[in-house]
Amino acid sequence: MAKTIKFTLDGRPLEAREGETVLEAAERAGARIPHYCWHRVLGNPGNCRMCIVEVEGTPKPQVACRLPAREGLVARSASAAARRAQASALELHLVDHPLDCPVCDQSGECGLQDYYMDIGRYPSAMREDKAHAAKRVPIGPHIMLDQERCILCTRCTRFVSQVSKSHELGIFGRGHSEAVGLVPGRSLDNPYSGNLADVCPVGALTDRDFRFQVRVWYLDETASICPGCSRGCAIFAHTSTQRPWHNQGRRLARLKPRYNPEVNGAWICDEGRYGFAEFDSDRLGRVMRLQGTAAERRWDSVSDEIAVAWHQVVRNKRPDGLAVVASGSLSNEDWKAFKSLFVDALKLKRFLFTPEPDQVGTEDELLRRRDKVPNLAGGMALGFGAQIESMTWDALAGEIEAGKVWGLYVVDRDPLKVWGEKGRELLERLDFLVYQGPRKGLTGDLAHFRLPATAWLEEDGHFTDFQGRIQGYRRALAPLGAAKPDWAIFAGLEAAWQGGGGL
Ligand code: SF4
Ligand code: SF4
Ligand code: FES
Repeated sequence: MAKTIKFTLDGRPLEAREGETVLEAAERAGARIPHYCWHRVLGNPGNCRMCIVEVEGTPKPQVACRLPAREGLVARSASAAARRAQASALELHLVDHPLDCPVCDQSGECGLQDYYMDIGRYPSAMREDKAHAAKRVPIGPHIMLDQERCILCTRCTRFVSQVSKSHELGIFGRGHSEAVGLVPGRSLDNPYSGNLADVCPVGALTDRDFRFQVRVWYLDETASICPGCSRGCAIFAHTSTQRPWHNQGRRLARLKPRYNPEVNGAWICDEGRYGFAEFDSDRLGRVMRLQGTAAERRWDSVSDEIAVAWHQVVRNKRPDGLAVVASGSLSNEDWKAFKSLFVDALKLKRFLFTPEPDQVGTEDELLRRRDKVPNLAGGMALGFGAQIESMTWDALAGEIEAGKVWGLYVVDRDPLKVWGEKGRELLERLDFLVYQGPRKGLTGDLAHFRLPATAWLEEDGHFTDFQGRIQGYRRALAPLGAAKPDWAIFAGLEAAWQGGGGL
């Protein structure tokens, strides 16, 4: 068993693990010591001097990020002497800082601003003009650099050397003219570049997609799981509904990594971070019957109509001619209700779970996985893609063409996109086509019934990642219109099929 070290910080008893520093143990316990350069993954160069603490029995103050915790150590971060030392370090950081907080996008989540309000609040002693440097420099597709605001903590250069290993950034010059910048000829375009806006403790590196869309104090934060691939990175969803006219009316403002050492550490990839900007576009909110004259339906009547149609076609045709296309974006709850309806109640045999061609992408050693859907593993745990085999897209097209498949139930997939123009002809041959999903896509217009489902941020649920780990995500936004979680739609249809009530 690992040895536990007991020490006190500002009179509070704390426990450290062997080898931990005072700052690390304090952070883990939620005790606050000011810091900039230390980062729980990127290490502790000890250059910002903000984490100074007084240590009993030691004549000089120490930096907590390099001070190993030892049994009986008594440290003070909030004493008058420690505060004086921290305030002096802060004053040095502010010598050339432009103090443009009102127009800085980091405002509200800036370490410099927070510590100034906590331990600074002194008038500037500077008589000379501040040194000026480059502002608003787009250094890559996602990151904007403001050199004047940089406090040279080196977190960003450590990230590109230790984590992305892409080495685009460096600290150049000496003394007063030292500045962070791009290595000549490079652009900050690695697949994890968005993390730099997170690691920078001030407004020197900001997110080009997010900046000036909405002030951070108008955002709500919900713990979630990224649905961008089967890694299942822990994230926070930041949503903007308090001021609906901000963020160009979009409810999802940004996704941020949520620290999980077992899955994604402190990072997420750019595909996941920026892949959901159009969360609210092309959304479905109305239950529709589109056969003949298009008409809106209530959930209870549409499920009865679908159940009646199933009974009719099953009576008149071979029941195994009904195929289902399902999405690896379904939650575990959805998969369970899906199985209950299509396998146990309807006893269907033809399923397709194979990802669409554009749902198979690049993978790397850090986080990104090849399959760009979050929960094929949740379906596999129930036998889908294993005992219950998956057809290929070509095989399904062939069977529709041959008249073996006469009905299709599509869940959050877009066969028309996969099959191209030939797909329209195939789908128009079908006697029965239901489309269910959060977005209309191309197939939604051809369906006989179109059922609006919630997207992942509008429901509680669980995904199983590629390693078999089950993780929960929470509802962050209200469903749009009449949309329901997929599991509720399947359950309502099953009840209607069994002769029970509607949805
Ligand atoms: S740009 Fe930000 S992260 Fe990089 S050295 Fe400057 S303050 Fe630190
Ligand atoms: S690695 Fe996958 S799960 Fe993680 S952020 Fe990227 S897309 Fe999302
Ligand atoms: S956090 Fe300790 S010196 Fe920077």
